[in-house]
Amino acid sequence: MIERMTHLKNGAAVWLRPIRPEDAPGLIDLYGRLSSETVYQRFFAPAGSLSWARAYVFATVDYDDRFAIVAERGDAEPPRLIGVARYERAQTAAALGEIALVVEDRWQRLGLGTLLLDEILAEAAAHGIRELRADVLSHNRPMLHLLAQRTEIIRRTTDNGITEIHLRRRAG
Ligand SMILES: CC(C)(COP(=O)(O)OP(=O)(O)OC[C@H]1O[C@@H](n2cnc3c(N)ncnc32)[C@H](O)[C@@H]1OP(=O)(O)O)[C@@H](O)C(=O)NCCC(=O)NCCS
Repeated sequence: MIERMTHLKNGAAVWLRPIRPEDAPGLIDLYGRLSSETVYQRFFAPAGSLSWARAYVFATVDYDDRFAIVAERGDAEPPRLIGVARYERAQTAAALGEIALVVEDRWQRLGLGTLLLDEILAEAAAHGIRELRADVLSHNRPMLHLLAQRTEIIRRTTDNGITEIHLRRRAG
């Protein structure tokens, strides 16, 4: 992935780039700014604080089996992370992976989730992952809407309030 600057619907400049280990503190800060609902939608667990150990694991990827893209505000000093998308290849099947994304509450509905999703799907495809799975809370309309709009849904099953979606990147 090539680092690039883009603009959201409100005109704000945002950098999209691969995550690096030095982003661990930025991830902790981002997590601390998320509403409890957003944390729950992303992690299916109540908000707490993100530990250093977990942040380091999230920030340290091998850019092949595990990849994460961060969105960083272009005009903030020091720079601030406002969104993250990641994929992880399945251990059992090289062409299968799982994706997850989150956008900081006050930056939602500005097109960033769409940008991050498109980027992470392109990156996964570039690394041979043809099918992706996303676990989404069944009442999470924004994410369900986003996936339906931007991807080819292969199948979806719902169990215990969690919808498991298998999807492909749309051709073209
Ligand atoms: C899902 C999420 C990533 C979307 O990010 P975003 O930056 O708001 O996405 P976009 O601005 O690109 O919007 C994508 C679509 O979702 C719709 N949408 C976004 N928020 C919405 C809301 N609260 N209610 C209804 N639709 C919504 C938008 O209208 C848009 O559709 P459109 O292009 O037809 O208008 C964000 O809401 C989020 O971080 N949620 C919490 C974490 C999460 O749910 N992760 C998914 C589990 S892995």
